[in-house]
Amino acid sequence: MSAAALAAMAEDTLSRRDFERISRYIYQQAGIRLPPAKLTMIEGRLRRRVRATRRATLNDYCAWLFDGDHLDGEKEHLLNAVTTNKTDFFREPKHFDYLQQQALPAMRAEGRQRLRVWSAACSTGAEPYTIAMLLDTYAREHGGPDYGILATDLDTEVLAVARRGIYPSVLLDPVPPALRGRYVLRPRDAARDEVRIAPELRAAVGFARMNLMDDHYPVGAPMDIIFCRNVLIYFDKATQQAVVRRLVSCLRPGGLLFLGHSETITGFDLPLTAVANTVFQRT
Ligand SMILES: C[S@@+](CC[C@H](N)C(=O)[O-])C[C@H]1O[C@@H](n2cnc3c(N)ncnc32)[C@H](O)[C@@H]1O
Repeated sequence: MSAAALAAMAEDTLSRRDFERISRYIYQQAGIRLPPAKLTMIEGRLRRRVRATRRATLNDYCAWLFDGDHLDGEKEHLLNAVTTNKTDFFREPKHFDYLQQQALPAMRAEGRQRLRVWSAACSTGAEPYTIAMLLDTYAREHGGPDYGILATDLDTEVLAVARRGIYPSVLLDPVPPALRGRYVLRPRDAARDEVRIAPELRAAVGFARMNLMDDHYPVGAPMDIIFCRNVLIYFDKATQQAVVRRLVSCLRPGGLLFLGHSETITGFDLPLTAVANTVFQRT
């Protein structure tokens, strides 16, 4: 990009009115709060939509969006642009220790033949594939239980990455070597610094778009385990409580809910008991 283009970009800012229109819309659609401190971040993220829609400036983009009646067609791109998708394999590893050492043995001892697990807000797939590696290993070593994983997110771009299951190899560094050896495939072309999740794990995870703001989560039979980590932090308290209430309604009694390490349910009147740090059991 030329110096002139960079300078023009730096001068292109959102008016207060347009930032408010964007943040109101994002809050209504996705529950995500965008306080004024997020202005620069949002400007940066919307610039690629300005280019993609061939608008001249951020404020032109907003006029096109809100006054030009293009919201419906642009909605998916806009939501994809504003979500924060940071994730990692084996992120917050104590949760996976708990899953492996406590939750799976207890569920096996209860005689459960098949576990239904949901990774809500799965981003690019590191979380559901981490869970799949552990469930698959446990099932191999103990002759069960069988399992199926549903992985959902609002953002259609991260879901496309997750479905492909191809990652820069450095992202797989947190995966223990034994699991990497079994579930991570090197490309035939060794010059490509990418790896792919093994087909049996990809087959065990079904990806779908789902908005946690929806009144009803169409997940079918009750879940044994739900991971909903590092997304509640973007919502206000009332929205967090409504989301956790709906998640609990999808969990069987005795089932487990894993939240992110900085997320809490303090003050929510819900049938949940803490069983480990940010791990809750439905009573
Ligand atoms: C920071 S990532 C967390 C990913 C993963 N759970 C983890 O802990 O590594 C947050 C994810 O929540 C998704 N998200 C944000 N708002 C959402 C909503 N209303 N419904 C569903 N997913 C949402 C984003 O698209 C993003 O991929």
